[in-house]
Amino acid sequence: MSEDITVKLDDVWKTYIMGNEEVQALRGINLDILQGEFHVIMGPSGSGKTTFLNMVGALDFPTMGEVYFEGVPLSSLTKKQLASIRSYKIGFIFQTFNLVPVITARENVSLPLVFQRYPREERRKRAEEILKRVGLADRMDHTPDELSGGQQQRVAIARALAGKPSLILADEPTGNLDLKTGFQIVELLRELSQETGVTVINSTHDLKLIDIADRISWLRDGEITRTQQKLDVSITSVDVTI
Ligand SMILES: Nc1ncnc2c1ncn2[C@@H]1O[C@H](COP(=O)(O)OP(=O)(O)OP(=O)(O)O)[C@@H](O)[C@H]1O
Ligand SMILES: [Mg+2]
Repeated sequence: MSEDITVKLDDVWKTYIMGNEEVQALRGINLDILQGEFHVIMGPSGSGKTTFLNMVGALDFPTMGEVYFEGVPLSSLTKKQLASIRSYKIGFIFQTFNLVPVITARENVSLPLVFQRYPREERRKRAEEILKRVGLADRMDHTPDELSGGQQQRVAIARALAGKPSLILADEPTGNLDLKTGFQIVELLRELSQETGVTVINSTHDLKLIDIADRISWLRDGEITRTQQKLDVSITSVDVTI
C-alpha cells in the first residue's frame, strides 16, 4: 500500500442485528484517506457516519471487509495493539465534547499523555502549549462547566492533538454549537491539521463545511455515492443552493 495513505477501507460492511431486524449501516465502503488531508464525510442523520468513524477508530469492527491503518489490517491486531493505536495514533473529537467534568481544562488535555507515560512536567508543558494554541491560555484552570460550548470543544481539540496522533476522527464536532462558533471550531481544526500534518476525518451534515475540506465523501444509506475534490464540489454546492 502506498505510504501516503493513512486509512484504507476495503469493501467494509457493517450490519447491526436488533432482535429479528438487520440494519445495514455500511454497505461496501471503499475509500482511501490520504495522509495530511482534511476529509469530510457528509451525510444526513442515520447515513452511517458514526458507524464509519467507529470502524476507522477501531472502536467497533466490520461485519465484512477490512480497515487498514497505516498499511496494517486492523483485524490482524490484538486488543492490546488496537488499544495502543487508539491512544497513540488517533485523536477523537465528539459532538458532545466528552470532557471529564470534575477536572480542569489542563488536566483534561494532559489525560491522554498519562496513558502515553509522559513525565508529569512534560504533560503540563505540552497541555499548556496546546491550550494556548487553541486560544485558551486564560482558561486552563477552568472545569468544563465553567466553559462555553465552543471553549469546551477547543479543549477537546487540544486533548485530541496533545499526544501528536497521525489521525483525528471528529464526529459532528459542530453539532452542539451555533453556526458561527461551529465554523470557527472547524477552521481551527483545519489550521491545526495544516500546521501539524495530521490527517483529519470530520463527519457532518452541514454543507458549509464543503469549503473547508480537501475532499468530501458523500454518504447515503451506508454507501459512499461519490468522493470529490473541494474545487469540483464548490460548483456543485452553488447548484444546490440556487
Ligand atoms: N448499535 C446499533 N445497533 C443497531 N443499529 C444501529 C446501531 N448504531 C447505529 N445503528 C443504525 O445504523 C444506521 C447508521 O447509524 P449511525 O449512527 O452510523 O448514523 P449517523 O450518520 O452517525 O447519524 P447521526 O447524524 O444521527 O449521528 C442507523 O440506521 C442506525 O439506526
Ligand atoms: Mg452519528
